[in-house]
Amino acid sequence: MNFIHLSKRFYCNKIINKNVLEILKDTKEKLLKSNNELISNYSELESKLLVSHVLKINDHNDQYQLFNKKVQSRIISNEEYNQLQSFIERRLNNEPINYIIGYRYFWKNKFFCNHSTLIPRPDSETIIEKIIEESKEKELKIKKILDLGTGTGCLLLSTLNEFKDSIGVGIDKSNEALIIANKNAIELSLDKRVSLLNFDWNNYDKNQISKLLSSPSSSSPSSSSNTNNENNEKFDLVISNPPYISNEEFKYLNPIVTEWEPKTALIADENGLKDYKSIASFLNENKDSLLSDNCLIVFEIGKGQEKDIQSIMENKYSFKYIGYKKDLNSIIRCLVFMKKVKK
Ligand SMILES: C[S@@+](CC[C@H](N)C(=O)[O-])C[C@H]1O[C@@H](n2cnc3c(N)ncnc32)[C@H](O)[C@@H]1O
Repeated sequence: MNFIHLSKRFYCNKIINKNVLEILKDTKEKLLKSNNELISNYSELESKLLVSHVLKINDHNDQYQLFNKKVQSRIISNEEYNQLQSFIERRLNNEPINYIIGYRYFWKNKFFCNHSTLIPRPDSETIIEKIIEESKEKELKIKKILDLGTGTGCLLLSTLNEFKDSIGVGIDKSNEALIIANKNAIELSLDKRVSLLNFDWNNYDKNQISKLLSSPSSSSPSSSSNTNNENNEKFDLVISNPPYISNEEFKYLNPIVTEWEPKTALIADENGLKDYKSIASFLNENKDSLLSDNCLIVFEIGKGQEKDIQSIMENKYSFKYIGYKKDLNSIIRCLVFMKKVKK
């Protein structure tokens, strides 16, 4: 038995007598063979990500190490080789690279993600840009932020990082997503400024509204010095990137999305509009208790949804339309409203 075991190990060692540079090349070649062009077209980048992950080079800046001759010439271990092969296999099975490596960079930080969260998208950075623009232009004081459908927490935590004196509440109906958002809040040292609550905008009771308002709990540093419990104040900013893909559209998305990312984070009935309608109704019903007078409401939206959402927010309820922002593909990705009643 021992002999077989030893010879097997020896055999494996012999096969993998390859250095990092060779392994990078091998990995790229394997990914290039994928018939999914979202994999083959990015084989160069993805091979670097997978190899870096196996070598535990997990930081953007550290990845320059792959260009270091010393690192490139190091022979990789059996364990590293086997792990890499299992990652390549998962990737060739269309699993998103970010679920395999367990993170994605968004705005200025790294965010953990897993199968219970949407992977943060570069398009969603448009939301952060627009919030910064609007707050500067209107000289808004953003002290308290509500994020509806927080997922990894990427929007809320990035915004909290931009507005250093703010506190925030992130809600999601998925407990598993909230666990990841909490991990990200801790990693970014924002856990004292944020509360993460299980809340469903389609199905909530009034007690939960007071919980939203009294969060983050008064044990947070921002409130400890304040005897009036500053945290009971209303929200100055509401952010939401709700599910907005229609059932029809979903059929035509890449399997990297449809087979792996949570459908509850993606699909919305009523032609992709159901969750905007529910959120608009929720905000309208609770606007006096939840929203400050100048509260800014910023939505991420899907391609071509701007007119319908504007009509829901302005005509059905009387939120004031402020403007939009296009993403890098020139698609209107973000709509902004204010609580103020139209004059
Ligand atoms: C499109 S993802 C956005 C995640 C994250 N904010 C981002 O931008 O990457 C939508 C999120 O809304 C949550 N969600 C869907 N329906 C919900 C509901 N009725 N109430 C609360 N959260 C909901 C999902 O679990 C998911 O995390």
